[in-house]
Amino acid sequence: MRILVVGAYGMLGREAMAAARVAGHDVEGRDVDTLDIVDPQAALEVVADTEPDAVINCAAFTNVDAAEDQEDVALAVNGDGAGNLAAAAAAHGARIVHVSTDYVFPGDATRPYVESDATGPRSAYGRTKLAGELAVARANPDHVIARTAWLFGVHGRNFVDTMLELGASRDSVAVVDDQVGCPTWAGHLAPALVTLAQRPATGLFHTAGAGSCTWFDLTRAAFDATDTACSVEPTTTANFPRPAPRPAFSVLVSERGADAVVLPPWEEGLAGYLAARAAIQSKHTGGPS
Ligand SMILES: NC(=O)c1ccc[n+]([C@@H]2O[C@H](COP(=O)([O-])OP(=O)(O)OC[C@H]3O[C@@H](n4cnc5c(N)ncnc54)[C@H](OP(=O)(O)O)[C@@H]3O)[C@@H](O)[C@H]2O)c1
Repeated sequence: MRILVVGAYGMLGREAMAAARVAGHDVEGRDVDTLDIVDPQAALEVVADTEPDAVINCAAFTNVDAAEDQEDVALAVNGDGAGNLAAAAAAHGARIVHVSTDYVFPGDATRPYVESDATGPRSAYGRTKLAGELAVARANPDHVIARTAWLFGVHGRNFVDTMLELGASRDSVAVVDDQVGCPTWAGHLAPALVTLAQRPATGLFHTAGAGSCTWFDLTRAAFDATDTACSVEPTTTANFPRPAPRPAFSVLVSERGADAVVLPPWEEGLAGYLAARAAIQSKHTGGPS
């Protein structure tokens, strides 16, 4: 297959490029410098030029807190932009695989969210991502919308990275223990997106790391795995006010049965990420980290 990855310089986009190549596909990548998805004509032209069988959209306005003050800017990318790319793919008979988020849900559930559960975003970012889901589904019947959560990978700043840096310089960190979600390694999600690009099934898919934990649990696990001698103290969301509200409970599971692409448990994702991170650090320092 020929696959066009958009948002190709981002944390997930880089992994998607690599995963598509590993799967033996012919891959082309674009980011905002060569394709601004806000421009519908540019999207049409790039898809016409590259002639993909599938487009994987990893491009997004991803600053959740900044979106509270810049919802119009975020909506242009996450809503209209996603729709533009889906329409361009449709015009050329290509499938669109679009990445969305647990933030489309209100986050007050007491059981995991499945694909058919009612949405109800509580943040500007979540509203713009939901607008993108609707725009993609409207513009291209041959669509996959893959919702994921708590993403980390070697090609971008992420929570695990931040905690490991703090853990190396402090004796103790306080971490929120009242938000539950699904940590997801980009190295697991990217091949899942490629699989979804290859398979005929369409619609919504929940694609997050299996299992669930709190940010506190994730930090504890990362410190244990790296022998980081920093204590982790549980704290509450109320003690860490942020501009955008965070979902308290946004565990994602799939009800898609045989069509589902089930990711490995988040603990395996963390282990994979830490190994990839250590390999990069060792390459930079010329020895084992
Ligand atoms: N990170 C998470 O925890 C998380 C959780 C759930 C879902 N997601 C979703 O996963 C996807 C990938 O996220 P990520 O963490 O890999 O994000 P990321 O690292 O911020 O990558 C997004 C990429 O899109 C580019 N971009 C922004 N505006 C664009 C535009 N108008 N046209 C084309 N490209 C544009 C960005 O360029 P600039 O850097 O120059 O802006 C960046 O290279 C997104 O759909 C996001 O909503 C992420």
